[in-house]
Amino acid sequence: MLETHSLRTGYHGGTVLHGIDLTAERSSVHAVLGPNGAGKTTLLHALAGLLPVGSGRIELSGTDVTRLPAHRRARAGIGLVPQGRRVFASLTVAEHLKVAHRRRPTAWSPARVLDLLPRLGERLNQRADRLSGGEQQMLAIARTLLTGPHVLLLDEPTEGLGPGVAADVLTLAGRLAADGLAVVLASPRPAQVLPIAGRVTVLAAGRITAALDGAAARQDPARILAAVAPPRPTPQELP
Ligand SMILES: Nc1ncnc2c1ncn2[C@@H]1O[C@H](COP(=O)(O)OP(=O)(O)O)[C@@H](O)[C@H]1O
Ligand SMILES: [Mg+2]
Repeated sequence: MLETHSLRTGYHGGTVLHGIDLTAERSSVHAVLGPNGAGKTTLLHALAGLLPVGSGRIELSGTDVTRLPAHRRARAGIGLVPQGRRVFASLTVAEHLKVAHRRRPTAWSPARVLDLLPRLGERLNQRADRLSGGEQQMLAIARTLLTGPHVLLLDEPTEGLGPGVAADVLTLAGRLAADGLAVVLASPRPAQVLPIAGRVTVLAAGRITAALDGAAARQDPARILAAVAPPRPTPQELP
């Protein structure tokens, strides 16, 4: 569904991602794991077209989309749910859904989204800044679903959420994949994400340090946990 080949990019002429190859398959969650600063958001922004690609290639169902601007990539079916959710504080749930709903028909209508996320239906007239963190995350996901994505990019969707709500968000990600989406889920928390991962890529300092199937990762979670653990402070840095 979505493939990258030797993807390199960065900021202000500097390189952050040093040649990333990954494939996100339909009906599967591809977990991109790595500590803060590893390059997860940079990767998702490059996939969504928010950051120009230095070199390498991005293909969506065999079509080269490397140079397509973000709005055309969204229309081609790449949907990003950004880190930090980025909902509009003063807009209600209903207003968010109205703004996101496309005039052209997609597989997702507001009714279908509310069927999947009934809690949002109970909050239609609430401003987004009055929602809980979990509800804001569901709203951010709902808004992106309305664009009719084939590939759903979720950037740290459980950040700042308690364990129960985080589990709900991950269950939702798994359901959306089971429903046919290619889900790419970036997270610094392997233990949370491994249970739903069909494929795992570990990033460290902008390079892939491990790439394996979810089943293999679940058999050897210690390896993934070690790969994702942030570097220990050196003795000089200890107090
Ligand atoms: N807008 C930016 N300008 C310059 N450097 C950036 C910018 N965003 C991120 N970086 C750098 O890119 C690297 C990867 O960051 P990021 O992709 O946000 O990592 P992650 O999402 O894994 O925490 C870090 O070294 C970070 O400082
Ligand atoms: Mg990030």
